[in-house]
Amino acid sequence: MNFLVTGGAGFIGSAVCRHLCANPAYRVTNLDKLTYAGNLASLRQIENAHNYRFAQVDICDEKAVLDIMRRDDIDIVMNLAAESHVDRSIDGPGAFIETNIVGTYRILNAALEYWRGLADDRKGRFRFHHVSTDEVFGDLPFDGGMFVEETPYAPSSPYSASKAASDHLVRAWHETYGLPVVLSNCSNNYGPYHFPEKLIPLVILNALDEKPLPVYGAGANVRDWLFVEDHARALELVATKGTPGESYNVGGNSERTNLSVVETICDLLDSRRPRAGGKSYRDLISFVTDRPGHDRRYAIDASKISRDLGWAPNENFDSGLARTVDWYLDNKWWWGPIREQNYAGERLGEA
Ligand code: NAD
Ligand code: DAU
Repeated sequence: MNFLVTGGAGFIGSAVCRHLCANPAYRVTNLDKLTYAGNLASLRQIENAHNYRFAQVDICDEKAVLDIMRRDDIDIVMNLAAESHVDRSIDGPGAFIETNIVGTYRILNAALEYWRGLADDRKGRFRFHHVSTDEVFGDLPFDGGMFVEETPYAPSSPYSASKAASDHLVRAWHETYGLPVVLSNCSNNYGPYHFPEKLIPLVILNALDEKPLPVYGAGANVRDWLFVEDHARALELVATKGTPGESYNVGGNSERTNLSVVETICDLLDSRRPRAGGKSYRDLISFVTDRPGHDRRYAIDASKISRDLGWAPNENFDSGLARTVDWYLDNKWWWGPIREQNYAGERLGEA
């Protein structure tokens, strides 16, 4: 089985590549443009594996994508390449429209042309798996409700609107042209190799640097957290066993307020790397201006993927968060060079 993973140098894509490459029956091509969020260091574990190869390509380059599908005899495309950070989408939506919408359109075109040229037995096996987010559903009240696959789309941010548009394109390519697609919509991931502009790694590394820990608003917004390796297993199942035309919600059943996540990280660090003078890392928490259009609460009902594909998360949030904190404490070789770059300044348009 030959996989083409786009965005494989990112947080989730690299976990997917590491997971798939552990199966000697799979061959994996990682296609990534290497934006600020792409990092080949996340693939060090598999970079010399016999069943792994990398191509630096933009998903907007339809011809280059098609050439790679043909060269590597692809059976399954897993499309993870995207601009993924909500705050960046607010500061500058253009790249999100370009990669998440136009890029998805281009790779769908490449996939359709490739699929049409396959022999019948291969055609039946081919899948285009589009990896998406729970943010397309908008947000939920604090006091109840969960997203199911049928929840109407109501995205709030330029990021989630661009992902919603891409999901609609993928479904249209199935309904109109018959391309065998599957989709998945997942909640917030966390774990090793997470780029430190996102809440959990940002808080861990700011704390170690004795910098403020920025909590938007009152920290009352709720996210449903899933350990990234559990997501990678879910994605393999959706891609290989999912029914064409269907989508699957994936979530960790681990709802937490942002403030409680930040406080738990502080407590874990207090026990592992005590601060001088016996102070708690909680003293670094700083309540800052809220994100515009900040979705209140996300919660995923993952019963369909559990019932139809037999998936359940292995990691619970407390042990997963402890594993994540330990990983950052042990792997400065990975995050040190990233923290030295001015990636936040670049987002904020600074020199
Ligand atoms: P990420 O930002 O860590 O990685 C994105 C990767 O895509 C990077 O390696 C980047 O170089 C690459 N990329 C960006 N533009 C590209 C282009 N034009 N062509 C080729 N490669 C390009 O993102 P992530 O957090 O790993 O998310 C991966 C996917 O999963 C995204 O589609 C995202 O919407 C979705 N998702 C993420 C989460 C989450 O919590 N992180 C949850 C649900 C769904
Ligand atoms: O729900 C899935 C989504 O999760 C994915 O589709 C996105 O790609 C991914 O980035 C993530 O989006 P969020 O906006 O939820 O993640 P982020 O880590 O940016 O923020 C998590 C929560 O923490 C959110 O409510 C905003 C808040 N936050 C974030 C940052 C960066 C803070 O309070 N302070 C911060 O500094």
